[in-house]
Formats: sequence, structure tokens, C-alpha cells
Amino acid sequence: MNIAPLSTEPLGLLAGLLPEGSLLTRDEDLARYSRDWSGDHFGRPLAVARPSSVEEVSALMALCHRERIPVVPQGGLTGLVGAAVATDGRELVLSLERMNRILSVNPIDYAITVEAGCILEDAKRAADEANCLLPITFGAQGSCRIGGNVATNAGGFNVLRYGMTRDLVLGLQVVLADGRIWDGLRTLRKDNRGYDLKQLFVGSEGTLGVVTAAALKLFPKPTQIETALVGLRSIEDAMALYARARRECSDLLTAFELILRRGIEISLNARSDLGDPLSQPYPVYVLIEAGAGGRVDLRKILEDFFADASDLIGDGIIASSRAQGERLWLYREVMVEMQGRGGRYLRTDVSVPISKLAAFVRDALTDIDIRLPDALAVTYGHVGDGNIHMNVVPPEGMEATAVDRLFHEAEALIFGALDRHGGSISAEHGIGRVKQHAFLERADPVGLDIAGKLKQMLDPRHILSDGRILLPGKAE
Ligand code: LAC
Ligand code: ZN
Repeated sequence: MNIAPLSTEPLGLLAGLLPEGSLLTRDEDLARYSRDWSGDHFGRPLAVARPSSVEEVSALMALCHRERIPVVPQGGLTGLVGAAVATDGRELVLSLERMNRILSVNPIDYAITVEAGCILEDAKRAADEANCLLPITFGAQGSCRIGGNVATNAGGFNVLRYGMTRDLVLGLQVVLADGRIWDGLRTLRKDNRGYDLKQLFVGSEGTLGVVTAAALKLFPKPTQIETALVGLRSIEDAMALYARARRECSDLLTAFELILRRGIEISLNARSDLGDPLSQPYPVYVLIEAGAGGRVDLRKILEDFFADASDLIGDGIIASSRAQGERLWLYREVMVEMQGRGGRYLRTDVSVPISKLAAFVRDALTDIDIRLPDALAVTYGHVGDGNIHMNVVPPEGMEATAVDRLFHEAEALIFGALDRHGGSISAEHGIGRVKQHAFLERADPVGLDIAGKLKQMLDPRHILSDGRILLPGKAE
């Protein structure tokens, strides 16, 4: 590694530090790192560094700390709160994309260890080849990277069975803001030696350190997967079904996704080949998945359960093949993709206690209907986790400032109902910059004091993703 600086300017110093080709500075090269997946957030990086080893990340951070160069770590850019997009022209993007190796898969330890830039789907495939399951599952899995999954504590469809990313992290390697490497990369199942430091970095959205490698828990690969779609009369019935399903299906559920009729209609309009899934329309649908190993008759468990629950279920189908199961998931996937009609829409990812979910959804939707009759609310989510996406699409042709106002008002209504039901303004996507105001307004002052002191201790010069989650700090 050439450490002789070529110049005293930040870009010259960085270019002198990294191997040839690791620093991108030309406009055409920066474009790809300037905009996130949703297209909602944009920021031109000062430059993009693409290190290929933890030593390079360490040297880079040490230099940035010394020279006070602001840095934002970047994975697959699929985050939804703008945390990984550069502050226009000021921040160096530290892309982990070249650090994408799978370091080990161990089916005895049920553990996989990967570099942070490994794409989630690649890690899942490696686990699968070892007859194991890496259960983090959601729409962006073909693009998102493990470092980002850790930094955002990614959720997804299978949380109700396997937990959030936080529950799956066995160990981490992290480069601190001053360049020191914290080696916490281990696959021990039990380890009570003092504070659990790795959890500090999970969900820290790049503000406390740069995750460079992670060890994650694996599970036995289910050999049977059953998928069903059922129609119900109300959200209350859907939640009653969930409560019964957990008990009566021996906790074998892996997904329990709610979709209101409007969501199904979005998919039907976008894909005429899909067809209305049940014999008649229902106000509420639930997509259910269960998984099990070989010695369980999963199909019979589900069939018996649905027969017993006929008082709640209007109509339903259990997929007869994996292909048909995947087709049922399309109603969920197409809806997510097409809900905004290619334009902007308000995203929320709120949670309430599971017992309050039906009442919360009813309250919030009633408020939106009465106060914002032009707005189109699209409601779906991981209701087995008490986590709902209540998104708001503006009427077609509305001008940009009116859209901003509508989003602001809709968010206030949703969060107002949420506060009444004791919920969280972010169950899944995090705070970043998008939810910062709503977060700070509600944050416990003691918790905020601890958070500020942690940030100050780990990044005293405020060079690392500063201004995400917490307000920009005063550098020492
Ligand atoms: C979902 C992601 C966007 O549930 O959270 O589709
Ligand atoms: Zn979600």
C-alpha cells in the first residue's frame, strides 16, 4: 500500500493511500453511488473509495479521522431513509462492494461468516448449498449487502419465526471512526464476557462504526414450505386468525402478511395475468407461509387448521406447488413495486403491540379518510410482528409542494394514531434523515443523552454518517 501522500488536499491524500483504481472521482463514475434504490434520495459524493480489505478500510478511516474528512459507508443503497446517500458534495462514500467474499459456512455451528459487501442473496445461496437457511428475506435481497442489513437491523418477511437481523448476528468486525479495528467476529452461541458490544453497531445506520464483516446464525433448511392466501372480513378477524395459527400450527409459521383489498387491486391493475386470487373480493387478505422439516405433515396441519378456522376465513387457497406459492407472493411483490405509480409516495414502517394492531389501523385509516380524502392509503405489512406499512399515494397530477404538504399531514395523522396506541415510528427501515424529526420529538431525554455520548465517544470528530439518527454534532 502506498502511504506517501500525493498532495495535502483530501482527494490527493485519499488517492495516495489506496491502491490504483480504488478511488473514483469522475462525475460519470460517481452517478451510481449518488442515488438510492427508491430514487427518493440523492447526494453527490465528494468521491467514492472502494477498499478491498479491512486493512484498507482501517487506513482510510485513520486518514479521514486525522484530516476530518466526512465519510458515509455504503452497501447496496436499498435503504429507505436516506442514511447511506452522501450529503451533497461533502462526504466521501466508502463503498463496501468489493469486500464481498463469503469467508465460511459451517453447518455444525449453523453459522455463516461474510464480508460486509456480500450481497444477501449470495449469502443465502451459500447457506442453502450447505443445507441451511439464512432467514433474512425481503424484496431487495438481490441488491442489498450484509453490512447494510446489519447497520439497519433489517427486518423482512420471516421475522416472526427467526427474529430481526439483530437476533441473527453472532459476531462482527468493525472499523471505528479513528481507524481502529474491533475484532468481534466470532461464531460462539453463548458468550457472556461483559458488554455485548456488537449490538451497539446493529441498527446504528453507519453512525458508530463501519461494519466490515459479520457472522450470522443459520437454521436447518425447511424441506417443506406451504403457502396460502386467505380472504377475511376484517383486520380483527385477521389478527384473531394469527393468534390461533401460532398455537394450532405449532409455531411453524414463517410469514403472516396482511394486504388490504386496495393492495390486491394495485397488483391486478399492474399485471392482468394475475387474476383475482379468490372466488370473490374480500376487504382483507393474509398471505401465510409455514415451513418444517421432513417428519412433520405440514400440509395436513395447515389444512386442518383452515378447516377449524372456517368461522374466520371467508375463502382461501393453499398452493399446490412451490411455483403456485411463488405466484401467491407476486400479489405482495407487484403491489410494493407498483403502489406509487412510478412517482413519490409516503412510506411508513410503524409498529404497535400485536394486540393493538387492528385498532391502530382502523383509527389511522379513518383519520386519513376524513381529513385527507384525496390521498390513497396503501396498507400492508408483517402483522405477525405488529409491523404495518401504511403508505400514502398522492392523487395523480398533484404539484410538488402540495404533495409535500399532503405527506406531512398524512404522517402526522398516522403518527398521532400511533402515539395513542403506544407504537414505534420505525419498526424496520430506521431513522436516517427522513424520520429524524419524528424520532427526536418523541425520544426519551435520558436515552437521547446516552445515544449522544456514545456517538461522541466512538466518533469524537463527527466524521461518520453525521446527521443521521442524531442531529449533526459538534466535533472535538
Ligand atoms: C416491505 C419492505 C419494504 O415490507 O419493508 O416490503
Ligand atoms: Zn416491511
